[in-house]
Amino acid sequence: MDYVEQRMAEQAARYTPRTLLPFDGRDGRQVYLAVRGRVFDVSSGRNFYGPGGPYENFAGRDASRGLACGSFDEDMLTKDLDGPLDTLADLGPDELEALQGWEERFSEKYDVVGRLVAVADFDAAAADSKSE
Ligand code: HEM
Repeated sequence: MDYVEQRMAEQAARYTPRTLLPFDGRDGRQVYLAVRGRVFDVSSGRNFYGPGGPYENFAGRDASRGLACGSFDEDMLTKDLDGPLDTLADLGPDELEALQGWEERFSEKYDVVGRLVAVADFDAAAADSKSE
């Protein structure tokens, strides 16, 4: 995808933590993960993120905090899939720098296929488009 196609795909598709969840690479499905609101299609990195891979915990999830902190702990993942997104507000400069490094790597390697939004924002956008 070129730059314009990327931006269009990114704008077109919206996921919430819950609708992202099925993109975990199981049963031949694609593997997506989100980093700071951008959803990446990491299916070509199935060996990393697919079932049995070392980073499978990030599949179908907001991976931001885990990547920033270099941790696979369950705590790193958004617990309430229908709640607000992780703002990462408590992270320090080193963690944010690590996260940015991952983002750059992903941007070079994978396509952005959508945005991750909280359910409340998803519903608000849906209501807006109905009233137009
Ligand atoms: C024992 C420690 C670790 C070892 C030995 C290890 C090893 C590796 C190796 C060999 C690669 C492949 C590099 C490449 O060929 O592109 C890789 C990539 C990666 N690692 Fe680790 N890693 C470790 C810890 C971590 C931690 C703590 C995280 C984050 C929580 C992490 C996240 C990643 C990610 C996201 C990739 C990139 C996969 C991609 O290109 O999509 N790794 N790691």
